[in-house]
Amino acid sequence: MAAPRRVALVTGAGVRVGEAIARHLARHGYTVAAHYHSHRPRGFAAALQADLAEPGGPDALAAAFRARFTRLDLLVNSAAGFEPRSLEETDAAAFDAQLDLNARAPLLLTRALLPLLRRARGSVVNIADVGGGLVAWRGYAAYCAGKAALARLTECLALELAPRVRVNAVAPGTVLWPTSTSVAQRRSLAARIPLGRAGRPLDVAEAVFYLAEAPYLTGVLLPVDGGRRLNGRTGG
Ligand SMILES: NC(=O)c1ccc[n+]([C@@H]2O[C@H](COP(=O)([O-])OP(=O)(O)OC[C@H]3O[C@@H](n4cnc5c(N)ncnc54)[C@H](OP(=O)(O)O)[C@@H]3O)[C@@H](O)[C@H]2O)c1
Repeated sequence: MAAPRRVALVTGAGVRVGEAIARHLARHGYTVAAHYHSHRPRGFAAALQADLAEPGGPDALAAAFRARFTRLDLLVNSAAGFEPRSLEETDAAAFDAQLDLNARAPLLLTRALLPLLRRARGSVVNIADVGGGLVAWRGYAAYCAGKAALARLTECLALELAPRVRVNAVAPGTVLWPTSTSVAQRRSLAARIPLGRAGRPLDVAEAVFYLAEAPYLTGVLLPVDGGRRLNGRTGG
């Protein structure tokens, strides 16, 4: 009898990096439930809508997932907000918004799906960032705080959920430019990356797949950044 297909839930799978992760997992044999907020993904086993910034959003997504699937092998927390803000611009609402979506939601979603992850001896891969996850960036204090929290949550949950569930993270450098980045800014940033160029969403997707398939890895924060983290601590 053929082994049952493994099931992955990818958040933020309607666009950009999250979509690349979801498509890569589907190409490699996973049945993919694709979460979205406003851009509905096409061509996956399920498309599940939820606002993960809301306190009840992760539980609502977990309930929608359980209504369609009875197993979960891999949870990828990729949905996030990316907001440059100086200290003067960072009020309580702006700070909370970054932390709610980028750190609290992955924690609550992992918690809500834990029975399924335990049953499948599954794993979680969080998408952090070199910025905040590994180094500080000027002008991104709230964003960096959220990604730093996600990196540390990855380690805490790896400890707490072992040995049945593994928890790892990818820390990408630039793999897809924000649409607002000018050509001059792209050139200047690429010059600070040791490998001399931005990466590709597929680089992140391959790292996610690697961590998902590596049975002796947990609590790992894997940089996929062309060496950018080595080159100074500023520059979002
Ligand atoms: N792009 C890069 O070079 C880069 C570098 C380092 C780290 N990363 C990380 O990689 C991940 C994906 O990056 P990206 O550039 O593809 O992100 P992005 O273009 O900013 O897309 C954000 C994603 O988060 C979802 N999202 C936004 N608000 C949401 C909400 N309230 N509830 C639920 N989902 C929400 C969006 O869904 P909808 O579109 O459906 O609204 C979208 O899928 C993020 O964790 C990011 O921090 C990316």
